[in-house]
Amino acid sequence: MIITSCGNSVEMAKNAARSLGIKFCPLEIKAFPDGDIYLKYTWPVKGKTVVIIHSFQPNPDMSLFDVIFAAETAKDLEAKRVVLIAPYLAYMRQDKRFHYGEAINSKIMAKLLNNSIDEIITIDPHLHRYGSLKDIFMIRAVKLTANRLIEDYIQKNIPNCVIVGPDAESYQWAEEVAERIGVEATVLKKTRYTSRHVDVKVVKPIPIKGKNAVIVDDIISTGHTIAEAAKKIRRKGAKTITAIGVHGLFVEDAISKLKKAGVTHIITCNTVEHETNKIDVTGLIVDELKGMKGDIKK
Ligand code: R5P
Repeated sequence: MIITSCGNSVEMAKNAARSLGIKFCPLEIKAFPDGDIYLKYTWPVKGKTVVIIHSFQPNPDMSLFDVIFAAETAKDLEAKRVVLIAPYLAYMRQDKRFHYGEAINSKIMAKLLNNSIDEIITIDPHLHRYGSLKDIFMIRAVKLTANRLIEDYIQKNIPNCVIVGPDAESYQWAEEVAERIGVEATVLKKTRYTSRHVDVKVVKPIPIKGKNAVIVDDIISTGHTIAEAAKKIRRKGAKTITAIGVHGLFVEDAISKLKKAGVTHIITCNTVEHETNKIDVTGLIVDELKGMKGDIKK
């Protein structure tokens, strides 16, 4: 087995390789003068399992393209199999045609990957209208979750807390985390009008006054969802408000929007590299790769 990356998640790929005692083999990726991609494996891959650890943020479109080129090249060079580890898998939110004529991104992304890789492993993918990754992937698709790590973080760092899920889908993170820590949780009702306009309502009130509120969601993108949730919680007298996102994309002015809304602490997992990364998910990936024991030779 060899581990590589197309440019995102390089630190994670190196750390995973180090933990497994195998080689991190960087890819050479650059552009020809006219802008075409140039990609080169700088070590032999014949007969090997090639593991590409690459988050789909930043630059999701380029990530998809680079991963397909890396996977196809590995297969062409007679790699035994190609495993993609996408700590953050983009395209999953556009999981239906909301308006006539729209592309269904998740299906197209999965179709392209189904053709090019043998296996995909990802962390807390945005499964909303799909029950499972199997709904779109024909290859082996493994969903890992950072929930246990988020629970540990909250238990160690945030006493006297309540957990808030900002929308219906977030029950997967919020309620599970709250149940295992043994604290109260409430899941808000979100109405999304546009990518940058959402409204949230508290439908199941819980005592928040004087508590440390923790908003847990999978993705923080523009920050509107968490900001709206934070405003509601602040009015209910929360002492502090921590936003925990598995995947912190922080597009546009997300950080300042969150702070302005009353969020006192912003914490993310390192599925997307960012200064807010406080929860390291590399161990989840390493454990999964250890399961492919036969492929790991020192
Ligand atoms: C969508 O339902 C997700 O779970 C997140 O709530 C959403 O992606 C957050 O996006 P934004 O930060 O732009 O509101």
